[in-house]
Amino acid sequence: MSDYAIEIEDLVKQFDKLVAVNNLNLNIKRGEIFGLLGPNGAGKSTTISMILGLLQPTSGRVLVNGVDMKRYPEKARNEIGIVTQETVVESELTAEQNLMIFGRLYHIPPSELKKDIDFALELSDLTNFRHAYAGTFSGGMKRRLETAKSLMHAPKVLLLDEPTTGLDIQNRTKIWNLLRQINKEQNITILLTTQYLEESDQLCDRIGIIDHGKLIALGTPSELRQKIGMSNIIEISAEKESLQKIATIFRKVGLDPQVLNNKVLAPGGNNATEKIERLLKELSNSKIKIQNISMHEPTIDDVFLKLTGSEVRDTTGEFTSARGGMLVRRR
Ligand SMILES: Nc1ncnc2c1ncn2[C@@H]1O[C@H](COP(=O)(O)OP(=O)(O)OP(=O)(O)O)[C@@H](O)[C@H]1O
Ligand SMILES: [Mg+2]
Repeated sequence: MSDYAIEIEDLVKQFDKLVAVNNLNLNIKRGEIFGLLGPNGAGKSTTISMILGLLQPTSGRVLVNGVDMKRYPEKARNEIGIVTQETVVESELTAEQNLMIFGRLYHIPPSELKKDIDFALELSDLTNFRHAYAGTFSGGMKRRLETAKSLMHAPKVLLLDEPTTGLDIQNRTKIWNLLRQINKEQNITILLTTQYLEESDQLCDRIGIIDHGKLIALGTPSELRQKIGMSNIIEISAEKESLQKIATIFRKVGLDPQVLNNKVLAPGGNNATEKIERLLKELSNSKIKIQNISMHEPTIDDVFLKLTGSEVRDTTGEFTSARGGMLVRRR
């Protein structure tokens, strides 16, 4: 048996002229939580649809637990549970009825169905809402019910397309805990897509950063942080009109700055503290007002900025990390 839960080989999807997935090569290890991180339109859902066999690749192939999705779609699909980007619970039915229908679709024997439903409700923390109509559920509860549904046929691999987008932090944390639990206790491999930097950092064993259908980075969160240098990040925020002048001063003291939104930042290197002192002196000499100066450990946010950098910004719009660490592409 293959060491990998999912193997993606030279995968391409082209829609007319648009290459949505551009020669993707990626192996998801058995037992890991893997996060495919990327902004709107990066190619995340297209990739998920091809893994599921819902969309035929233009070229390349996908293996699920060693089974070729194209040649043996039924067998490959049996191994997968899916939570799609749009929530698809039946509002007119109760939580229990939603699960029951799904269980029947997967031909779970009636003798086992009740036990499976109990388990799924317990896992998703919805036992108390068993007889409540799904239409009355909050967004977070619907997402949990959806996850419970996807686990009814005991898949070995669970795919989730942006499971927490739009949820508040409380509900997001609940989903994270649920995913950690099924990963650990049921030994289910998890592949999720996300636009949240923080989510990939906290939840995932490994992260793949995807943009314009291409994988631009791959590794554990700490490996990705190391990619941009172990050093701390020096960050200065200021009025927009001062940012370029501040960037010039960064260069003067030997830093390699990036300008973003309302701030200038750069890896501090070995003698970051000394560089901050020099920066402050130069800023004061030039009478440039700043709002804040700080030094912090690199985050996935910084990794993303470093990797997508100016080229992406110049050609297709700008990436900015909005509050909450969500990737937003500004046109
Ligand atoms: N059926 C389709 N026909 C034509 N273009 C498509 C189709 N599906 C997706 N695309 C395009 O392919 C690109 C990748 O889309 P995809 O939905 O995979 O992105 P995504 O990373 O899931 O984005 P989001 O975070 O917004 O869900 C986008 O430019 C999208 O407009
Ligand atoms: Mg999508």
